[in-house]
Amino acid sequence: MSIRNLDDLLAEGVSGRRVLVRADLNVPLDKQTGAITDDGRIRAVLPTLGALVSAGAKVVVCSHLGRPKGAPDPQFSLTPVAGRLGELLGAPVHFATDTVGESAQATVAALADGEVALLENLRFNKGETSKDDAERGAFADQLAALGDAYVDDAFGAVHRKHASVYDVPARLPHVAGRLVLREVEVLSTLTGSPERPYVVVLGGSKVSDKLAVIEALLPTVDRLLIGGGMCFTFLKAQGHEVGTSLLEKDMVETCRNLLERGAGKIMLPVDVVAADAFAPDAAHDVVPADGIPSHRVGLDIGPETVAGFAAALRTGTRTIFWNGPMGVFEMAAFASGTRGVAEAIAESEAFSVVGGGDSAAAVRLLGLDEKSFGHISTGGGASLEYLEGKTLPGIAALEN
Ligand code: 3PG
Ligand code: MG
Repeated sequence: MSIRNLDDLLAEGVSGRRVLVRADLNVPLDKQTGAITDDGRIRAVLPTLGALVSAGAKVVVCSHLGRPKGAPDPQFSLTPVAGRLGELLGAPVHFATDTVGESAQATVAALADGEVALLENLRFNKGETSKDDAERGAFADQLAALGDAYVDDAFGAVHRKHASVYDVPARLPHVAGRLVLREVEVLSTLTGSPERPYVVVLGGSKVSDKLAVIEALLPTVDRLLIGGGMCFTFLKAQGHEVGTSLLEKDMVETCRNLLERGAGKIMLPVDVVAADAFAPDAAHDVVPADGIPSHRVGLDIGPETVAGFAAALRTGTRTIFWNGPMGVFEMAAFASGTRGVAEAIAESEAFSVVGGGDSAAAVRLLGLDEKSFGHISTGGGASLEYLEGKTLPGIAALEN
């Protein structure tokens, strides 16, 4: 990779320098309590932060959380993240209550060598996500003024053309952090020449989100297993009724076409868990994929499907990429599909890559051992766009 990385910056010496680190600390929060439900993304940037702290840098961390609308919104505050980051680092994190304003400037100015500050949510500022180059640039100027060098370790956000991802590196000496480097190394083996057989498992709710990656992967993969909410549009394309399950009507024709082109490669569910309602305590049964009752909603893949998918994942497979849950795994009654597939991937001898916020969170929430996977990506959209072969603004900015 023609990108400078953290070791290059460390070799120059960072002691006493302000290093602005773009992280993706966009962690899931409990809707009721606001508590962090999965801190994987915080732990993922510790190697970069730890190295900078040890080298005596003044570390200024910035991130987005959720999708606030360009103005402060307390439900998206990074306050809980600052607390958790401090616990994990074993040192207090100085929290700025704004992103580039008085609090940020004072907090950064007060940092001693080897100390860490976290700025408030980047997206509390309109300039961060603006489509207008000048508006983004003006915000990038303010952010860049808080650092002497820039490290991008926000892999989950490299597909966004946002000020902190795309415009700040044009203003400061810039390098890729440890996480971004590792993510790109791993994903590039999948787009290069993955060891075969190469099996991809896709789930999640929308076909429309996955269309481009399916198109890009079809010629490359040996098998493509499809579950999750998006499988119902494919089942419909096969001519089956899907009851009240998630259906993207305008994608049925596209799915039919993909099924034709992917004949012999694409595997769809043969049974599903169909429920009376989208609720954790809804009455539910396993039904054949071609026999979903008209009043019922499919919320998970069934046991026969899990067995079939597991067999496809185990037999001699050398490389696996998985993105997207197989069902509504947040509800115990509809978690078996995701668990079964995750276990099969964990047990397989293949080099496995788990892509995505949701699938990565599923691995941890279901209590699976992270070490039994080859790589758990912190990027959902980012890893998919990488596999699509798209130019990622955050990576392109580091190359310049
Ligand atoms: C994510 O969770 O997918 C990343 O943090 C990017 O967030 P975004 O989709 O809101 O840009
Ligand atoms: Mg996303």
